[in-house]
Amino acid sequence: MAKTSVPLVGFLLFSLLVATAQAGVEYMKYKDPRQPISKRIRDLTKRMNLDEKIGQMVQIDRQVATAAVMRDYKIGSILSGGGSIPRLQATPQEWINMVNGFQNGSLSTRLGIPMIYGIDAVHGHNNVYNATIFPHNVGLGATRDPDLVKRIGSATALEVRATGISYVFAPCIAVCRDPRWGRCYESYSEDPNIVRGMTDIIDGLQGEIPRGSPKGAPYVGGKDKVVACAKHFVGDGGTTKGINENDTVIDRHGLLSIHMPGYNAAIYKGVGTVMASYSSWNGVKMHANRELVTDFLKGALRFRGFVISDWQALDRMAYPVHANYTYSVLTAIQAGLDMIMVPYNYTEFIDTLIGLVTNNFIPMSRIDDAVRRILRVKFTLGLFENPMADESFVDQLGHQANRDLAREAVRKSLVLLKNGKIADEPMLPLPKNSSKILVAGSHADNLGNQCGGWTINWQGGDGNNLTAGTTILKGISEAVDPSTEIVYQENPDISYVKTNNFSYGIVVVGEASYAETAGDNLNLTIPLQGQNTIQSVCANIKCVVVLISGRPLVMMPHLELVDALVAAWLPGSEGQGVADVLFGDYGFSGKLPRTWFKTVEQLPMNVGDPNYDPLYPFGYGLTTQPVGHTS
Ligand SMILES: *[C@@H]1O[C@H](CO)[C@@H](O)[C@H](O)[C@H]1NC(C)=O
Ligand SMILES: *[C@@H]1O[C@H](CO)[C@@H](O)[C@H](O)[C@H]1NC(C)=O
Ligand SMILES: *[C@@H]1O[C@H](CO)[C@@H](O)[C@H](O)[C@H]1NC(C)=O
Ligand SMILES: *[C@@H]1O[C@H](CO)[C@@H](O)[C@H](O)[C@H]1NC(C)=O
Ligand SMILES: *[C@@H]1O[C@H](CO)[C@@H](O)[C@H](O)[C@H]1NC(C)=O
Ligand SMILES: *[C@@H]1O[C@H](CO)[C@@H](O)[C@H](O)[C@H]1NC(C)=O
Ligand SMILES: *[C@@H]1O[C@H](CO)[C@@H](O)[C@H](O)[C@H]1NC(C)=O
Ligand SMILES: *[C@@H]1O[C@H](CO)[C@@H](O)[C@H](O)[C@H]1NC(C)=O
Ligand SMILES: *[C@@H]1O[C@H](CO)[C@@H](O)[C@H](O)[C@H]1NC(C)=O
Repeated sequence: MAKTSVPLVGFLLFSLLVATAQAGVEYMKYKDPRQPISKRIRDLTKRMNLDEKIGQMVQIDRQVATAAVMRDYKIGSILSGGGSIPRLQATPQEWINMVNGFQNGSLSTRLGIPMIYGIDAVHGHNNVYNATIFPHNVGLGATRDPDLVKRIGSATALEVRATGISYVFAPCIAVCRDPRWGRCYESYSEDPNIVRGMTDIIDGLQGEIPRGSPKGAPYVGGKDKVVACAKHFVGDGGTTKGINENDTVIDRHGLLSIHMPGYNAAIYKGVGTVMASYSSWNGVKMHANRELVTDFLKGALRFRGFVISDWQALDRMAYPVHANYTYSVLTAIQAGLDMIMVPYNYTEFIDTLIGLVTNNFIPMSRIDDAVRRILRVKFTLGLFENPMADESFVDQLGHQANRDLAREAVRKSLVLLKNGKIADEPMLPLPKNSSKILVAGSHADNLGNQCGGWTINWQGGDGNNLTAGTTILKGISEAVDPSTEIVYQENPDISYVKTNNFSYGIVVVGEASYAETAGDNLNLTIPLQGQNTIQSVCANIKCVVVLISGRPLVMMPHLELVDALVAAWLPGSEGQGVADVLFGDYGFSGKLPRTWFKTVEQLPMNVGDPNYDPLYPFGYGLTTQPVGHTS
């Protein structure tokens, strides 16, 4: 290259500036972070055409996403549905590369509006291999500790950011009124006050909203935080017989006093998004309920984030499913839904919605409202300034500090229901120095069972290679004195139990993993194999039963045999938390977040009901003191 003189460079630069000014290169106000968000939204929406607006309202699953699809259809959002992952055991860096690749497509559009990536992080970052798996919400309800739950929110936000994601479909603030519901474990409690208290998890996920912030405006506190989603609006936990996605039959006062308080609290905390419920209220689908979604949530409660649909919920608004998609789209958008989790056939959704708008069935003002809300969340999140993943968080996934926090949560979630057959002869805490003990049951050495649904797979999994963690058996073996011999048999036969001179047995049994409708259950019995294990162990040696379940189960027939009974819910990846308390390093402190019924015929039965006759009442829980072990 020839040498260029300094004056010549100066002249060329000057000419360039003149040319630029003449060409009228515009100042893009929406790209200027110094501008207030309201002005950025106004500037950007003025520039958007109908295709671009409707694209913002679309959320697709990563399975159908590519950078080209994001660019060509101007898609506003992507999600990972339960178990939708880039590769089995993908590393955080692989997640980041995937998310950034999609974002590249979005940024290469005319206006360069970044997409927002959402995922079900409902007990930690649960789709991701090696993430810390926290206890499911029912166990957190037993802790009665909103500060703990807030810290779990912060840890979850960090682990989600480790994979380049900035939006979670959590918390579930359902008030489960019937344990026959397959999602009951996603509910903190049957008591609306406890659920409302646990919305402090939003302070951890999004950061704590500054005092005096405008009511209803979304808030996100920084690059280590994520957008949260209060779900499922509203009444998801009140359906008939606990049938998933069914009808919640209750008067308005009941709806507002039982199922709504969590939303008041979440909006007060600046929750960014709300997900509509599949369920109906008195026969009207929530996805079609304009009065509650638009007039109440957006009007009376002044919620200014966006309302997102549930997975394929529009298809399910018609019977048979997808029977009249035009009707579904029309009704849901008119009701006030802003973003639709389509999640596969985006061309059908886009074409249908464009048709409804161009034919004046849906006014442009409704589309503009939806787009403003979506953009408000994106601007609040700082996505325009930082659309790509911050790779400095990768080491947060499964970080020891987060695992220690999960272990603390497990300890505090355990509810001691029975301790000794004879008064003043408690069985727990257990000595660490017995000569030989038996550990038995389908859930003693099974990480999948102890994590429950929504773990790596939508329905959860079985066995110990599902992800990284510590089983309850491993926790026990680390807790006892090395002189103690531990014999593990999943299903020991009676003569073996009788003839081996065990000091006592620890029986860990419960429900196999499930999620959503697959978990609906009208009998609520312990699976037969577990019942057999209880019988063969507890009829022959002193035993403690640790029940791993998403809800109370039928216990009456076994209670006489059992010396001690612990409800451990679905504790997650840190099984040492169970051993910490069984062996007295910490005391039992958990309180029942739900009524423990005697028989399923009593259901639904919640605290405060007339004829309340539980096996263990709501709030029950024996305590023990930590002991100073000598060994
Ligand atoms: C999971 O964690 C272990 C231990 O830290 C590490 O060796 C392994 O590479 C991790 N796997 C993935 C997929 O991140
Ligand atoms: C994004 O696109 C740029 C070029 O446009 C490319 O250099 C980069 O590798 C892409 N990033 C990802 C994660 O695909
Ligand atoms: C509720 O469940 C019943 C029984 O499965 C079914 O017939 C009915 O259509 C469901 N109702 C709603 C609103 O989903
Ligand atoms: C589908 O829904 C639309 C909008 O409600 C309605 O006009 C149309 O008649 C419905 N079609 C059928 C076949 O029911
Ligand atoms: C998407 O929907 C359209 C109807 O709009 C249909 O023709 C097409 O087959 C669907 N595609 C898939 C992959 O289901
Ligand atoms: C276990 O330790 C306790 C307290 O140190 C002691 O009293 C007891 O004898 C020990 N039991 C066995 C079996 O070693
Ligand atoms: C996990 O274990 C199951 C059964 O033990 C086996 O089929 C599967 O291949 C294992 N998966 C991995 C990733 O090792
Ligand atoms: C059974 O174990 C106890 C200690 O727990 C021991 O004292 C006793 O000798 C053992 N009995 C037999 C038959 O091994
Ligand atoms: C209880 O209900 C579940 C779920 O429907 C079913 O799988 C199980 O077989 C039932 N158990 C009994 C004993 O009926």
